[in-house]
This record gives sequence, structure tokens and C-alpha cells, in this order.
Amino acid sequence: MKMDAIELAQLAQAHAEPRYDIYAGIHKAARALFADALLALGRMDADADAERADALARLDALLDFCGQHLAHENAFIHPAMEARAAGTSEALAHEHDDHRLAIEALRGLARRLDKTPAGQRAGLAHVLYLRLSAFVAHNLEHMLVEETAHNAVLWAHYSDAEIAGLEGPFTAALSPEESAFALRWMLGALSHPQRLALLAELRFHAPAPVFDGALDLAREVLDDTQWARLSRGLGLAPAPGLVA
Ligand SMILES: [Fe+2]
Repeated sequence: MKMDAIELAQLAQAHAEPRYDIYAGIHKAARALFADALLALGRMDADADAERADALARLDALLDFCGQHLAHENAFIHPAMEARAAGTSEALAHEHDDHRLAIEALRGLARRLDKTPAGQRAGLAHVLYLRLSAFVAHNLEHMLVEETAHNAVLWAHYSDAEIAGLEGPFTAALSPEESAFALRWMLGALSHPQRLALLAELRFHAPAPVFDGALDLAREVLDDTQWARLSRGLGLAPAPGLVA
């Protein structure tokens, strides 16, 4: 793994003087999705139909998310980097090409597994698990480079307001289902202060039904303690019996 002194210095700087981080929230959701699919495939009994269907659905959701996410990075973040610092997005743009191939290879393996007769699936299921683990490992390193090297470029050439402005077309390009899916995973993956800030922002800028929908998602994914803490942070009436 390549984590050189520059990256470590960038990480330290990020803690010292926080800048607007366009990757932080959505990449936490991505890491949660990677972990979820990998765990599901690892514990799957490939001959138990319901378990296999559940694990492959989680894999499918992850791969859909990955394809959309890299397309949005290509469409909205890389052009911004290239506009003010030519050549800075090339390396990871090429990795995105490799990710597309890896996504299709994983989909192909999953389809083969589903068509393999009962009693003969275990070997292929383990191959799929290992291939996904390699994909996850690569993506974790890829996201780290985006959150260090790419952020360094954005922070050097754009104000926080300009970086935040890049998110408008990014989120507008999502369907309502894609937005809800990403938000659900973000709400479950963010720290309390990040979750509170996200919802406060939505309450301020988004139409009321969007904020209400986000609250519903939060109630679904958070445990009672997390929900009570969020409710209190937002100044909502506490539910009976819940304490923060
Ligand atoms: Fe990426």
C-alpha cells in the first residue's frame, strides 16, 4: 500500500484545518457497502437459496452504487480538477476504467454462481468472495488517494464554497431511489456530528418532504440511542421512553 509522507502530512493537515471534503460522507457509505457485501458473501451458504439471494442482492446493490459513483466522479469532480490543474485526475480516471471491468467480472461470476446446480456451488462461491475481497482492497486504497491527493488538488485550487457547489449537479444526477439508497447508507455510516450536520443542512436547504424522508430513513437505520441523540440535536420532540 502506498501511503507516503506527503499523504500522511495531508491527513494531519486535514485534521488541523478542516476543509470542505466532498468525498468524506459518500465514501463512508461506500466503505459500509463494501463491508456489508463482503461479509454477506463470506457467511453465505451458497446452497441455501434465500441466503444466496440475499448475498447476491447485496453484491448487486454495491456494484450498482460503485458504477454510479465512479461515473459521477468522472463527470463532476475530475473535470473540475483538470480545469485548474491539468493532468491531476488522470491516474485515478484510469483506475475507474479498471473498476468498470472488475464490476462486470464480478457480475459475471455472480450470474454463473446462480446458474450452478445445487451441491456444486461452494467452490465458485469462494472464488467470488475472494475476487470481491480484492476489489474491496483496491477500492479502499483508491478512495484514500481521492481523499488525500485529489482533495489536496481541490483545496489548493477551489474555495470551500466552490467545492460544495460541485455537489449540486452531482446530487441532481441521482434518481430518487439512488438518492435514498446513498442517504440510507450514509446515515448509518456517519459519526453523530456528521449525521447531525447533514440533516441540519437538509432541513435548511431541501424541501420539507425531503427532510422528512431523510428523518424516516434515519429512524430506520439508527438504534434508539443514536436516534434519540439525533432528535435532540435537531431539536425534535423526543419519542417516549428514549434517552440520549
Ligand atoms: Fe473514484
